[in-house]
Amino acid sequence: MPISSLKEPYFANNDCWLYLGDCLELLRLVPDNKFDMIFADPPYFLSTGTFTCQNGKAVSVKKGDWDLGGSVKDNYEFHKQWLSECKRILKPSGTLWVSGTYHSIFQCAMAISEVGYHVLNDIIWFKPNASPNLSCRFFTASHETLIWARKDKKSKHKFNYDVMKNANWSGDFIKKPNMQMRSVWSINPPRKEEKEFGKHPTQKPVDLLKRIIMASTDEHDLILDPFTGSSTTGVVARTLRRKFVGFDIEREYLDLSIKRLESVK
Ligand SMILES: C[S@@+](CC[C@H](N)C(=O)[O-])C[C@H]1O[C@@H](n2cnc3c(N)ncnc32)[C@H](O)[C@@H]1O
Repeated sequence: MPISSLKEPYFANNDCWLYLGDCLELLRLVPDNKFDMIFADPPYFLSTGTFTCQNGKAVSVKKGDWDLGGSVKDNYEFHKQWLSECKRILKPSGTLWVSGTYHSIFQCAMAISEVGYHVLNDIIWFKPNASPNLSCRFFTASHETLIWARKDKKSKHKFNYDVMKNANWSGDFIKKPNMQMRSVWSINPPRKEEKEFGKHPTQKPVDLLKRIIMASTDEHDLILDPFTGSSTTGVVARTLRRKFVGFDIEREYLDLSIKRLESVK
């Protein structure tokens, strides 16, 4: 029982556990200093009734009720609360990754600083084939930002420098072989086979999580994703022999996660 005897997991096997519920409540059940790494892909709060372009068609931006959000102040408070709990449950050597677009990432960055993390990098995830901008009145959004931070200024964090520098990253035209990994990563959206068990509206690509997990964890480390969605983090964690805990407020996404996690050889 990796988080608490007070809560039954929705799904468990040898090396991964999924919990159904609001992460603000679930995080409070976790003892201090538990996780080696936390990857968080929180709601971007951009489901405002606007439209975007998908396969040449205009589609609503509404991802789900979980992405509606409230006032700027309410959204900021939400980010501050979960970030604060994540800091408490991170091991002293642990690190936190947070992903977002301009709709959310500046609020997260402010909250990360206020809560007392120490920022290590901001990574630009460049999307080579991003959807065109329908209005033609501003630039085409083609990146997301990832913030990487350690627990506090004094702590010693893990960074697998040689793996980042020397592994085969041939899918990324920016990364040159045997040169240092830079802070701009070119990674395509999820491949068709990554959606074989169903779709999540904001599913992250396996290649993105592979790089994050390989950079900042070792085999058997324990990873948390408090907004797990379809559990891309868990799928990569299992593939790379890490242990994984995921939370989500939507049962449907945990059911999809289970199918994906069980398919990992
Ligand atoms: C941006 S998506 C994460 C997608 C995920 N990275 C993936 O690859 O599938 C955010 C997820 O957080 C969940 N969520 C939103 N608010 C939540 C909350 N308060 N507690 C737990 N999960 C929440 C949503 O149901 C959604 O699946």
